[in-house]
Amino acid sequence: MNLPWFRLLHVVSAGVIATLIAIGCADSTSPSAPAMTLVGASAASPVSYQAAKYDPIHFKPAIEQATDQQCLTCHAEVLKPSVRKASPAGLEASNVKAWYQQISIYQGEQETFHRRHLETPLAKQIMNLRCTTCHQGNDPRDRAPGSSATTQPDLTLRKTVSPETTCLKCHGQMNWPVMAGLPGPWSQSKEMFQNNCLACHVAIRTKRHQVTYLNAKAIEELAAKPNGGDVCYGCHGGRAWYRINYPYPRHAWPDMVPDIPDWAKDRPTESEARFLATITSEGKTSQGEEK
Ligand code: HEC
Ligand code: HEC
Ligand code: HEC
Ligand code: HEC
Ligand code: HEC
Repeated sequence: MNLPWFRLLHVVSAGVIATLIAIGCADSTSPSAPAMTLVGASAASPVSYQAAKYDPIHFKPAIEQATDQQCLTCHAEVLKPSVRKASPAGLEASNVKAWYQQISIYQGEQETFHRRHLETPLAKQIMNLRCTTCHQGNDPRDRAPGSSATTQPDLTLRKTVSPETTCLKCHGQMNWPVMAGLPGPWSQSKEMFQNNCLACHVAIRTKRHQVTYLNAKAIEELAAKPNGGDVCYGCHGGRAWYRINYPYPRHAWPDMVPDIPDWAKDRPTESEARFLATITSEGKTSQGEEK
């Protein structure tokens, strides 16, 4: 021990000071705190938590042009597998199947919500969802419309996405009463049609799924296999979170009777503009521009 006590103290306090500086810088713009900094999507420089939360990319119009890669620079965690092995009460995830997971096309281990829509083999095969298909920008301050002069007026209470224009499209009821020739709900009539929607839909409403977030061709191929009705029904009643059905656009199809039935009088005849496929100069399909 030939180190004088005051030198030892000096070494210790230098360490303490360095730690304090690191903590103090964590929420500032200092680039010396790499663990806590975020890389801004608009600028490649590190930004603070607050600045990242209010990054223009979260709001219109910037969010409309955002790519998944940009969102994932900060939100990589949403695509990480993070399902618990067991619930807090002890039920093993591998032993529990919800009613909507018993349809024949449901495959694999339990997955998170985001991964079921973006990462699983089925999702990638039949869909082409992007962050901005669902996320259109929301006020991070508040999830209630009309609570102050500056809240977003078009927000659904307590939601950060619009369920009416996203989820309902694939999680509404099957509108069987408008399907002439179907005697009742699909659960009762599917045997009669060999669990095959194409029995009728090979000729009816054939102009369908021409939107950027669906893989129309893959859907038809899967639906043509035995029990293919499960594929169609999955998005048209088999996983219904709502008691209502989505008012789908009614595209004209070859051999369609020109008289419009009463129930369809208010229906649009085109898909939502932001999802219309456009062909780029390279011949690839890309997201349609808002009209
Ligand atoms: C620069 C980093 C960054 C980028 C890029 C970014 N975010 Fe965020 N985001 C944040 C931070 C920070 C928060 C605040 C998190 C919190 O408060 O829990 C946040 C919050 C959110 C929330 C929650 C909002 C709420 O009200 O609870 C959603 C949803 C979200 N981001 C989606 C996106 C999407 C979609 C994109 C791409 C269009 C994106 N983010 C791009 C950093 C980023
Ligand atoms: C199928 C629609 C859908 C898609 C696609 C989607 N999200 Fe979400 N996201 C949601 C919903 C719904 C929530 C929960 C919103 C709420 O609480 O109101 C959510 C929540 C979030 C949150 C808040 C934190 C959390 O985990 O609850 C972030 C951040 C987020 N999403 C980012 C993303 C990013 C990044 C992508 C693209 C890689 C993406 N989302 C794709 C629907 C979607
Ligand atoms: C374009 C169609 C589409 C849209 C839009 C969509 N989903 Fe889904 N969703 C699916 C499909 C397909 C599955 C089933 C995936 C499977 O079985 O592997 C699914 C599964 C789910 C599941 C079950 C997940 C699981 O692991 O069991 C939930 C919950 C869900 N969706 C909620 C939502 C919500 C909330 C929204 C709106 C924010 C939404 N979905 C939007 C197609 C969609
Ligand atoms: C017995 C024939 C028949 C069968 C089987 C059938 N459909 Fe239909 N479907 C119709 C008819 C008819 C319409 C309405 C046509 C029109 O727009 O005038 C229709 C309309 C629809 C619509 C549009 C509803 C709306 O509100 O615009 C969807 C979605 C649909 N069918 C999905 C399915 C799915 C999924 C299955 C299998 C689970 C199925 N159909 C089985 C005859 C059938
Ligand atoms: C991954 C989810 C998904 C699957 C699988 C799916 N659909 Fe759809 N379907 C949708 C969505 C979303 C729309 C609305 C698209 C739009 O806005 O144009 C739609 C629209 C329709 C329409 C309305 C057509 C029109 O006039 O625009 C019919 C009919 C239909 N689907 C029948 C079917 C049949 C039959 C199958 C099986 C061959 C099937 N769907 C499989 C999601 C799905």
